[in-house]
Amino acid sequence: MKKNEPPSQLLFCVTCRHSPGKSFSVQSLINNAVSNIICCLVFGERFEYSDKQYQSILQNLNEIVYLQGNVWIQICNAFPWLMKWLPGPHKKIVTLIQKIKDFVKIKITEHRENLDPSSPRDYIDSFLIEMGEKEDPDSGFDLNNLCFCAMDLFGAGTETTTTTLHWGLLYMICYPHIQERVQAEIDTVVGSSRQPSITDRENMPYTDAVIHEIQRMGNIAPLGLSRMTNKDTVLDKYTIPKGTMIMPTLNSVLHDESMWETPHSFNPQHFLDTDGTFRNREAFLPFSAGKRVCLGEQLARMELFLFFTSLLQRFSFSPPPGEQPSLEFRLGATRSPKSSHLCAVPR
Ligand code: HEM
Repeated sequence: MKKNEPPSQLLFCVTCRHSPGKSFSVQSLINNAVSNIICCLVFGERFEYSDKQYQSILQNLNEIVYLQGNVWIQICNAFPWLMKWLPGPHKKIVTLIQKIKDFVKIKITEHRENLDPSSPRDYIDSFLIEMGEKEDPDSGFDLNNLCFCAMDLFGAGTETTTTTLHWGLLYMICYPHIQERVQAEIDTVVGSSRQPSITDRENMPYTDAVIHEIQRMGNIAPLGLSRMTNKDTVLDKYTIPKGTMIMPTLNSVLHDESMWETPHSFNPQHFLDTDGTFRNREAFLPFSAGKRVCLGEQLARMELFLFFTSLLQRFSFSPPPGEQPSLEFRLGATRSPKSSHLCAVPR
């Protein structure tokens, strides 16, 4: 690093350890930062980016999400009794899940050893206090369920927001004029001397619209989460028998040709009125809908706004020199960007 570089340049190098202007892989950096938020809420602690055990847990999670899109896993879901006997990636997924489970179990044991019922530190403490001395599997308050709930929150709270932010930076690279307009709004409303806060959102309709459009086009959970009917159900003219697996295709609303002016192209105007105020859209359902709508929606929306504005306040993003930006995706449990290399130049 040169001696007389401005502080923002210094901050950049120290934070992500890459030379300014040189391309780097953004996925793991975002993943670490995002994951630490849900870790604070669930485990009551954040982890250093240099923590090898934690890095390996994040890598395992990443691989699980990717493997879930594998055809063998689909076959396994359809014929679990058969696949039990065959080798393949479905075996690997079980091993990876077990590793995360072991990690979470250690955290639960540590929490039980230092529990102060008058002062819960996080989700695990709150669950343990509610559970009391005795486990009650019928009510859901038992240690096994705590382990799975903590794993669900950790997994759902890490992968989804990371992938959305990753798409966000790629869209900004592909549409530099939109990136500049977001930065202009940040400069006007927030400036450069303080960090963005969530109360800024209502004064930043353009940025809000861009984030909504990133979620619409990113379409990170095209099949939502698999569900199963627990009783015979009549929906419109269809009868769905008890025990049927349901996979909502969120893609059908996010790209509905009757609902969006330009359903297949990136267009923040979808979320803006003619006078530039923000407008919500009925078909905007990236978090799904109904009773089982994403439990983390509010947290995720807050994270997306704060990360996205903080990053664009400090950096301008561009493709690696000589490369065309790409919006190619790979499909696992989520739909995530294939390419993760980009350049970040301090502003
Ligand atoms: C951009 C970020 C996110 C997106 C797009 C997203 C999307 C979704 C979707 C589509 C579902 C399925 C809902 C259904 O079955 O109908 C879901 C469920 C869920 N999400 Fe998210 N999510 C995000 C972030 C988060 C975060 C940060 C958390 C952390 C608390 C979280 C926790 C959950 C949980 C626990 C469920 C299961 C809810 C249930 O079974 O009732 N999500 N999410």
